[in-house]
Amino acid sequence: MTLPFDGAITEFFETGAPDDVRDKIASADKKDILTPTYPHPERMKRKAYEEEMDALQIELVKMQDWVNATGTRIACVFEGRDAAGKGGTIKRFTEHLNPRGARVVALSKPTETEASEWYFQRYIRQLPSGAELTFFDRSWYNRGVVEHVFNFCEPAEREHFFTQVNPFEQMLVNDGIYVFKFWLNVCRAEQLRRIMARERDPLKQWKLSWIDVEGLQKWDAYTDAIRETLNLTHTEHAPWTIVRSDDKKRARLNAIRTVLHGLDYTNKDAQAIGKIDKHICGGPDIWD
Ligand code: ADP
Ligand code: AMP
Ligand code: MLT
Repeated sequence: MTLPFDGAITEFFETGAPDDVRDKIASADKKDILTPTYPHPERMKRKAYEEEMDALQIELVKMQDWVNATGTRIACVFEGRDAAGKGGTIKRFTEHLNPRGARVVALSKPTETEASEWYFQRYIRQLPSGAELTFFDRSWYNRGVVEHVFNFCEPAEREHFFTQVNPFEQMLVNDGIYVFKFWLNVCRAEQLRRIMARERDPLKQWKLSWIDVEGLQKWDAYTDAIRETLNLTHTEHAPWTIVRSDDKKRARLNAIRTVLHGLDYTNKDAQAIGKIDKHICGGPDIWD
């Protein structure tokens, strides 16, 4: 089998990764949670997950009915390191929704024309219209993190971004758009384990890019950029929800709960939604 990027990911594991990260992956069972501070000893069991997910997806459908009936606009932003689980979480949100009215936005790098525009402009074109939910798989926060770490923007452009992003989101909220911002978090060993699995899985290789490969060496630069971004953009009008994503099942369930509990839709069944696990979904204090 030919590995993408000439096996550079396996090579990073063998020769580039810090010893403790490599040892942790090598000595772990496939199902072990690799983050020492993770608040549960084991991953969630499939059966409980499926039951809870079914109940939540029924609530999501009711929520979309209300969105349609009222012309509500909802924007959900998903951020996080490579392989944190953004795409998979979004997929569970949209799985049983009417695609007419539930849109995933995953923009590629800016075209020449887009790069000549106001930074927010291409994202503004993707904001929800009435009766629409949009799910941003990465977002304007690229400028805070990946563009910075990879030098795709000048430091001055990033500073300029930080002067605009909070007022920008304030305008969205003031105009009546519901904005949910999720930051999915995994530890370094878990990220590397997932990226290695993608390298070998023909169904997941498309998720890899040279950014993921190069990014493996830039863990600390990412950490600094993320911390700074969270500090500067966790606001009252548009707060971050940190999602501990080592266990994808708990991450998805609690992210969906966060949205459902945040909306006052018709026929809402708070008991069916269930309690948010505050150790899985919480404020920036649970990010590390
Ligand atoms: P993803 O993880 O979203 O599948 P990548 O890891 O390849 O995609 O890239 C991460 C992000 O960096 C994407 O949002 C992509 O659009 C952005 N990006 C890649 N190259 C550039 C570039 N030259 N300038 C600005 N942004 C870029
Ligand atoms: P590398 O040498 O490939 O591991 O690159 C990571 C280092 O480059 C980290 O120390 C980052 O802080 C630094 N770095 C990368 N891009 C930028 C940038 N745009 N501004 C400041 N530092 C950067
Ligand atoms: C994720 O897993 O976080 C997203 O799907 C993005 C990626 O593929 O890295």
